[in-house]
Amino acid sequence: MADFENKVIIITGASSGIGAGAAELLASKGAWLALVGRNVENLKTVADKCTPTYGAPEPLQIIADVTNEADVKRIVDTTIEKFQKINVLVNNAGILKSGSIETGTLEDYDTIMNVNCRSIFNLTKLCIPHLIATKGNIVNVSSVNGMRSFAGVLAYNMSKSALDQFTQCVALELADKTVRCNSVNPGVIVTNIHKNGGMNDAAYAAFLEHSKTTHALGRVGQTREVAETIAFLASERASFITGALIPCDGGRHAMCPR
Ligand code: NAI
Repeated sequence: MADFENKVIIITGASSGIGAGAAELLASKGAWLALVGRNVENLKTVADKCTPTYGAPEPLQIIADVTNEADVKRIVDTTIEKFQKINVLVNNAGILKSGSIETGTLEDYDTIMNVNCRSIFNLTKLCIPHLIATKGNIVNVSSVNGMRSFAGVLAYNMSKSALDQFTQCVALELADKTVRCNSVNPGVIVTNIHKNGGMNDAAYAAFLEHSKTTHALGRVGQTREVAETIAFLASERASFITGALIPCDGGRHAMCPR
């Protein structure tokens, strides 16, 4: 039996990057997907690549902004209406903006916290009764920035640290209901997030080059590598793992200046 045969999985931020990679991988393992994104065309492109396997239906495509409360309710309602259950929630949607305590704005702080934390609290809360019913699980896409401190990305780091607390607290709160909650904490992964966050092409190329020295394995990561970690945590193979923050970062979390 495939890992996710008959398992309904919601993935936010599925129209690009890590979310798209996770969608393709989980589809290949039998998942019944509810893909959430804001861009109709991009989401359709990803959905088209998610070839259903093991009798799964075509992926459900839900156009929604995770910071919009009505949209978030619709994510859950539409998924239940179509599939009648939820087995796994992958909280992947997130944004990155740079800014220090001196240069960051309160507006950016609110935007980052709304996407990276508040929306996750909201969506997870609405999914909980359904996850309890299936003894399902939650996988949060955090960051090495939640575990380690870096100058110049203050609000982002704070949001991912808060998400790590969320992961661990929710794991404890739902353990007696056999609902697991874990996070994957990626290092630098090649996606659009840095350019969307304001880096130009030259700065991004320099950042990737520099990242060879900040990751012990001497390279940045690929979306597939994070997707594999998400798939493991979401599967029964991780049945005794909850409240775990799993780095997928080429060893970056273990490094310090020397
Ligand atoms: P990405 O920019 O390709 O993906 C983020 C997705 O979230 C996009 O599809 C975007 O449209 C969606 N999103 C953002 N705001 C949204 C909103 N309000 N409503 C609905 N969707 C929204 O970037 P990537 O890298 O795939 O990011 C996925 C997650 O991985 C994020 O949580 C990010 O913080 C995390 N991460 C990424 C790292 C990297 O180096 N790429 C490193 C560590 C963590």
